[in-house]
Amino acid sequence: MCGIVGYIGKKRAAPVLIDGLKKLEYRGYDSAGIAVMDGDNMMVIKRCGRVAALDEVRGLSGTIGIGHTRWATHGTPSERNAHPHCYGRIAVVHNGIIENAARLRATCEARGEVFVSDTDSEVAAHIIAHYFETKNDLLLAVHCAAKEFSGSFALAVLAVGEDEIVCARRASPLIVAEGEGEGLVASDIPALAAKGRRAYVLEDGELARLTREKVQIFDADLALRLREPYILNETELSPGKGRYAHFMRKEIEEIPDAVRNSLFLPDMARNSRVCDVLCHAYYFDIVACGTAYHSGLCFACAAERLLRVPTRVHIASEYRYTDPIVPRGTLTIAVSQSGETADTLAAARLARERASSVIAVTNVARSSISRLADVTVLTGAGREVAVAATKSFQAQLATLYSLLAVLAKQKNIPFFPLENFSDLTKETIQKSECIAGWSSYFLDARSVFFLGRGADRCAAMEGSLKLKEITYLPSEGYAAGELKHGTLALVDSRTPVVAIITDPRLIDKTMNAVHEVYARGAKVFLVTCFPELCAQKEVAASVLIPACDPELSPMLSVIPLQLLAYHVALALGNDPDKPRNLAKSVTVE
Ligand code: M6R
Repeated sequence: MCGIVGYIGKKRAAPVLIDGLKKLEYRGYDSAGIAVMDGDNMMVIKRCGRVAALDEVRGLSGTIGIGHTRWATHGTPSERNAHPHCYGRIAVVHNGIIENAARLRATCEARGEVFVSDTDSEVAAHIIAHYFETKNDLLLAVHCAAKEFSGSFALAVLAVGEDEIVCARRASPLIVAEGEGEGLVASDIPALAAKGRRAYVLEDGELARLTREKVQIFDADLALRLREPYILNETELSPGKGRYAHFMRKEIEEIPDAVRNSLFLPDMARNSRVCDVLCHAYYFDIVACGTAYHSGLCFACAAERLLRVPTRVHIASEYRYTDPIVPRGTLTIAVSQSGETADTLAAARLARERASSVIAVTNVARSSISRLADVTVLTGAGREVAVAATKSFQAQLATLYSLLAVLAKQKNIPFFPLENFSDLTKETIQKSECIAGWSSYFLDARSVFFLGRGADRCAAMEGSLKLKEITYLPSEGYAAGELKHGTLALVDSRTPVVAIITDPRLIDKTMNAVHEVYARGAKVFLVTCFPELCAQKEVAASVLIPACDPELSPMLSVIPLQLLAYHVALALGNDPDKPRNLAKSVTVE
């Protein structure tokens, strides 16, 4: 949700900022802007749309500046609402939501100040400028202003005539770094990565001052904080697309590696903290959002069916406002690819307050969720750039199923050999090649249904989310048996249906739903591991995936659904990597 960069050093700032913003574009791409200072001359350039629109100003002179790529919260995507926002001598870039912005804005307007945008972020520029006039010290001004803001913010601030950048953080991520004669700030590591740079993750409430000589970190009382740096290396740079047209396609191909690198086999876990926390759990609670929530649903199917551990799966944004009941012996597992999702963080924090142990399952070391949890288990998906999560889903399943394998070993319960999954996912990708041919049937669909029962229903829900987010087609992942209780009214010849059948116990039951939709004119597409079903007259086309334990089958059955979404998006002319209205990392409520 919005990406921030800042640079002070020996190089020209504009290209450093623009290149940094391109690496943060997954966080938002409604509009972008930079402010660069050359002596006392502050130049502010904003553009609608992608960061590349700023390339024409790479030649700007000045060795200090800040930049921003936006995902709109307050105010439409437009140049007027793009950052940096300026007032008086101050320029600000902001990620987060200042929740009391309306009240603060009224105070500023009562002083006669005029606003030029609809954003909460412009309010930050006004309040900081107000304090800067009286304190004449940028760090003090930001410190005083931050105390007035409620909500979340990561801020980077410039003042005309001051050779420094001041930053502040509450709830939104911010990382500062120093190299030889340079200081940098960004919302995420890839925008900072260069061999040898020393990075510091700011904690909530902290501020930082970046000069050409050093980076200083201060706590909420402005006491200097000393901290060990984390040394950046080149592997943290953003990956390229390689031979693929899109990151999403490349990331689907990377699923077998992601799975292999995310497995956590029982022998590796022996005597570990994870093992300890797991074995003391009577109940599991999952808190997560989006695709990670669906991983949680898949985990719950397996945990309850295979290990008989009662498991509840919570949408994190709901959990945090439901006054949750957290019985003694509950282990909360917070699942988040980015480790920065605001709702998941808040839910995990609440679980801890209610005396639950918390395991974080995340793809990002040193992320906020891993700093909050008792134990972190890292998924090994590698960096995922496309906004639509693909390989991180299978990586999360690999890690979550591994936790169950550890527990199964403790309880002497036989468990599916997870080490087979990497090869099985590879085989599934190969067998799903034919999916490209399905896309023409979806182009003028009125809506799409994904049907399944048990674990297949969880897969259906993830398949539907994928289709929605990159094709913009209305779609639903539905319990196959529930259809006839109302939703069947929506089905006609313009409603393609994708059925997922991987459980031998449920073949006939889900096939009943297939007959019902077929009888109403729907074209039925099938993802299954049972060859005999592919030949049924109701089935327009099918993908035959390898068989595995049915409780763990979403690991495989979701792959063709990811590919279906990808191919339909392409056929519709959409950019599958950057769907409209969405951002990769949702750091606001
Ligand atoms: O980083 P997280 O796993 O916490 O993100 C959660 C969701 O925002 C994310 O899965 C989102 O739903 C994806 N765009 C789905 O493809």
